[in-house]
Amino acid sequence: MDHFLYRDGALYAEDVPLTDIAAAVGTPFYVYSTATLLRHFQLFDEALEGTDHLVCYAMKAASNQAILRTLAQAGAGMDVVSMGEYLRAKAAGVPGEKIVFSGVGKTAEEIRVALEGGVRQFNVESEPEMEAINAVALSLGKVAPITIRVNPDVDAKTHAKIATGKSENKFGIPIARASAVYAHAAALPGLEVVGIDVHIGSQLTDLAPFEAAYQKVADLTERLRAEGHDIRRLDLGGGLGIPYTRSNEAPPLPLDYGALIKRTLGHLGCEIEIEPGRLIAGNAGLMVSKVIYVKSGEGRDFLILDGAMNDLIRPAMYDAHHDIVPVIEPEPGGDPQPYDIVGPVCETGDTFAKGRLMPPLAAGDLVAFRSAGAYGAVMSSEYNTRPLIPEVLVNGDQFAVIRARPSFDEIINRDTIPSWL
Ligand code: LLP
Repeated sequence: MDHFLYRDGALYAEDVPLTDIAAAVGTPFYVYSTATLLRHFQLFDEALEGTDHLVCYAMKAASNQAILRTLAQAGAGMDVVSMGEYLRAKAAGVPGEKIVFSGVGKTAEEIRVALEGGVRQFNVESEPEMEAINAVALSLGKVAPITIRVNPDVDAKTHAKIATGKSENKFGIPIARASAVYAHAAALPGLEVVGIDVHIGSQLTDLAPFEAAYQKVADLTERLRAEGHDIRRLDLGGGLGIPYTRSNEAPPLPLDYGALIKRTLGHLGCEIEIEPGRLIAGNAGLMVSKVIYVKSGEGRDFLILDGAMNDLIRPAMYDAHHDIVPVIEPEPGGDPQPYDIVGPVCETGDTFAKGRLMPPLAAGDLVAFRSAGAYGAVMSSEYNTRPLIPEVLVNGDQFAVIRARPSFDEIINRDTIPSWL
């Protein structure tokens, strides 16, 4: 459920007509709904009620500080994967003890900054990284709390580019080697092993792979405890999928996911962390774009939008489907017709949809891409020297620009010309 609904024939974000935002900031832009963000966070929080837990929002999904602060004020922790994300979470007001640091390639500098600023735990992905964290911690006279990410060799049954839990993926240590790696960690004085971490992929639409992975984590917890490790925290990653179409998909609900966690792991008495990103932000955001031209081609019509693959890369990168809807509801009676919906960037991959049935549209009309709140703005680029598009946050009947569109001067002046030119 989200808070982007039609009222009197026009699409609203909560109580704000999208046409008002378009008039204020121009197109294209991203818009997020506070109520939807909070509702999604609360669904997870409630699903784990009765269990000691922390929902650490995977801020890679949408990392604007206004979004982070909205969630942090509701009680969320953060899952970060880089120094930039760590500093951004801190700037948004998230305390270090609620920040978990994930990622396969943490540098010594990143580790130092997080240890100095405070961190709940590092989710360690390899033995060399474990040694690096140990060395940095010792040099600072600190002890670093860690979990070790295990790769459970489970098929997440999702898009190959976002599956992470198979043995051939670069993530985690093979679960079969866990005893040896935990023994290694326990021998390093700069580390305090607090638990186990697992994350098997993103956009999972079935609970079975989670169940298989969490079962293995449960068995591993018992084994490691028997081997003398104080396993008291389980970080179960993110990955719960969202509906990208209104009609046919019904991914599992956070409540069922929470029940699965309690069923497979509840008896262990561990503190539970989860790292959802997409489910919190995905359907809490839209990208709004304007039709520049309607072009008739060979046997097909193109809607050429002012938004492009640099603004929303998911269709080009993962063949992802995003529902695209008119901001002003069409008059009844206008027959839908198929369009290829494209952006103005100079490559064929700049295609959002092919043969998509849409009501008849004309130049100047606004369209909204649904489910664009996660992995939308954060994956955008300035390809073709197109400015990053603004982000807007709505809360009831108010809205605020939370990232302004840069001017061309700002973009161009970032380059420096060497003295020999
Ligand atoms: N934790 C870890 C360690 C992760 O690698 C990820 C996502 C998450 C949590 C959050 O997963 P989520 O709940 O959002 O599924 N750009 C791709 C998605 C990449 C996901 C990467 N890792 C897309 O647009 O579909």
